[in-house]
Amino acid sequence: MSDLVTTSRQGSVLVVTINNPPVNALSPGVPEGIAAGVRSAASDEGIHAVVVIGAGRTFIAGADIREFGRIVSGEAPPLNLNEILSEIENSPKPVIMAIHGTALGGGLETAMAGHYRVAVASAKVGQPEVKLGLIPGAGGTQRLPRLAGIETAMQMCAFGEPVSAAEALASGIVDRLIEGDLLTGAVAFANEHPPVRRTRDLSGKLLGAVAAESLKSLFQDSCRKKLKGQTAPLAAVEAIAATARLDFDAGIKYEATLFNECLFGTQSKALIHVFFGERAVARIPGLPKEVQPLPLRRAAVVGAGTMGGGIAMCFANAGIPVVLKETTQGALDHGLASIRRNYETSVKRGRLTAEAAAQRLDLIKPVLRYEGFDEADIVVEAVFEELALKKHVFSDLDAVARDGAILATNTSTLDIDEIASATKRPEWVLGTHFFSPANVMRLLEVVRGKATSPTAIATAMELGKTLKKVGVLSGNAFGFIGNRMFGPYRHEAIRLVEEGASVSQVDQALTDWGMAMGPLAVGDLAGVDVAWRVRQEAIRLGIPHIEASSFEDELFVRGRYGQKSGAGWYLYDENRKASPDPEVERLVREYAACQGIPQRTFSHTEILERTLFALINEGARLLEEGIALRPVDIDIVYVNGYGFPAWRGGPMHYAETLGLQRVTDRMRALYDEFGPFWKPAALLEQSAKAGRWNS
Ligand code: 3HC
Ligand code: NAI
Repeated sequence: MSDLVTTSRQGSVLVVTINNPPVNALSPGVPEGIAAGVRSAASDEGIHAVVVIGAGRTFIAGADIREFGRIVSGEAPPLNLNEILSEIENSPKPVIMAIHGTALGGGLETAMAGHYRVAVASAKVGQPEVKLGLIPGAGGTQRLPRLAGIETAMQMCAFGEPVSAAEALASGIVDRLIEGDLLTGAVAFANEHPPVRRTRDLSGKLLGAVAAESLKSLFQDSCRKKLKGQTAPLAAVEAIAATARLDFDAGIKYEATLFNECLFGTQSKALIHVFFGERAVARIPGLPKEVQPLPLRRAAVVGAGTMGGGIAMCFANAGIPVVLKETTQGALDHGLASIRRNYETSVKRGRLTAEAAAQRLDLIKPVLRYEGFDEADIVVEAVFEELALKKHVFSDLDAVARDGAILATNTSTLDIDEIASATKRPEWVLGTHFFSPANVMRLLEVVRGKATSPTAIATAMELGKTLKKVGVLSGNAFGFIGNRMFGPYRHEAIRLVEEGASVSQVDQALTDWGMAMGPLAVGDLAGVDVAWRVRQEAIRLGIPHIEASSFEDELFVRGRYGQKSGAGWYLYDENRKASPDPEVERLVREYAACQGIPQRTFSHTEILERTLFALINEGARLLEEGIALRPVDIDIVYVNGYGFPAWRGGPMHYAETLGLQRVTDRMRALYDEFGPFWKPAALLEQSAKAGRWNS
């Protein structure tokens, strides 16, 4: 037996311990090791039962995700878990799985191949494979319904959310909760001499064909709505419903077919890229290993508007006391009232207890001067987007903040170095660009200025983790990574409308493709006036490819600012429900006639190419300029901050999926038709042949 799995004895119970840090994934050798342990027990007369337990922080977090890419490329053999789990299940002596931490994916499947499961109260179990574009591939879709019923199994496998040990007990996945030491409790359970009880033989919770089919349609409809475009959730439900018509062995075969279709498809490749990407962005090339993040025990926020209030909530939600400063009592009361409303909504929706909400609110201390700022380890400025005002605030902060405190700005466009120049400590100044609503959106762009110290960067990246966000490091360029790329993308969306596409056609092409919102509807949400101001600033700074005028100016001059004014690209009712506006169509045709823009119709493919290729090309430029460190950083920004479908992997991964050569060729054709805007970035041209980003 390898070091990955070891055995020991506790009386007549064989204890099989998995030791594959950090999460006891089922890497090659682990499942084989467990089966070997169980096998050795069978032939050992001194042993009457087996307990399987994980060393370290968890039971088994699933199959080794790194292996999937190797299986698809043919470097590694296909998964062989079913045979191994069958062997465990067929053990003549009872096998008790002892769960702490998490039993996820193949981890729960292994647990279900045992005859009993005991767990500590803090444990969680789940089948999160859909989050990787997969379905359970080691019997999960066949054993889980036998233990917990079809409905619970569909819920868990289609949506991938883990359940608590208490819920697992109630649904029959777990047989007993253990108080105190898990191993002691599991061995005691084994010493009660429970009979062998194979999950595969249970049938009491299975349903007949009609009931199973009706649950299948219910869940598949719900997946189509909530997980639009994703194929794995539908397949997971399909495999579970098959328990109504197939026996266990045929069900396992059917599951394997569906699993392989998912594994060899593009969605799992994309989602696995995102899984590792979200972890890879935390590793900053060039940041010396010995640089440690500073502890963030107290925070302060300047400005209690839309962003400042949300940012203060983020700190409070993480248990960090925060001082929140405004200029007037009125603004402060207004800011706190929205924070309170937000918490009340969470309580009403059952996401938070009233007590927890009150505790969080207590952590936010409103002030009108800089009281308490001298104790803050980090200050985040979120005042109006005006350089002079921000510089003024930073010079105040320089005077009041303690030495070594991080001074962060939430600016979405301004130059970090300019802002830092208002202080005598630019090494502690950086951008922390939260996305709206700050307490909800997962993305945090960390923007480094030219003087920002490695410690300040490491601390801000760690802040992302503390606030349960994904921090991505960006260079200091206009719009940083996300908004800089959004510019050309929206530019093309607007151009398409000017050339004859309808507003809803452009948005719909992109939402049908998977974007959470269309680019024009996003304009209405963020504010047509905000977009106008940003564009004027970009023109003033000489940012390339920004046109002097666009149809959006017509909306701006008419006060059609979007949702907030009841009209923008769309018309809005009192519930902010959008409907297409014939007036906009009329205005845009008038504008096109004035500008002499030829009119034509567009296919969805053309709309997708024009918008998405513009996005990809700007991403390639950011890589060339070193603003984005790696293609994956861009992907993670777009998936977490801009509603880009994770199952397409982010713009740079998607470009590789399409083929970089194909993207380049199409861009060259667009360049011939429309000119410089479409010049393929040098990096794209260089990478086209290899089919992978050369950076
Ligand atoms: N395979 C390989 N590596 C894994 C892994 C897995 N299943 N799960 C986690 N890791 C790695 C992470 O990449 C990370 O590596 P790094 O330190 O080099 O970046 C390290 O383990 C620690 O992971 P986290 O940083 O995510 O640690 P957390 O404590 O925050 O979270 C966790 C732990 C909840 C287990 C989380 O890692 C997780 O959700 N993992 C994925 C679980 C999963 O999806 N399992 C199903 C796999 S597919 C499957 O089982 C198919 C089967 O049906 C056949
Ligand atoms: P906002 O207008 O809602 O709030 C700004 C607040 O700052 C106001 O309440 C104002 O009274 C206060 N303020 C002004 N001067 C102050 C001072 N000296 N001391 C204390 N408070 C002061 O603005 P919003 O939307 O919250 O934006 C704040 C910053 O966040 C801007 O830099 C903006 O570009 C950026 N941002 C905004 C996003 C959004 O979607 N609204 C998204 C990401 C970044």
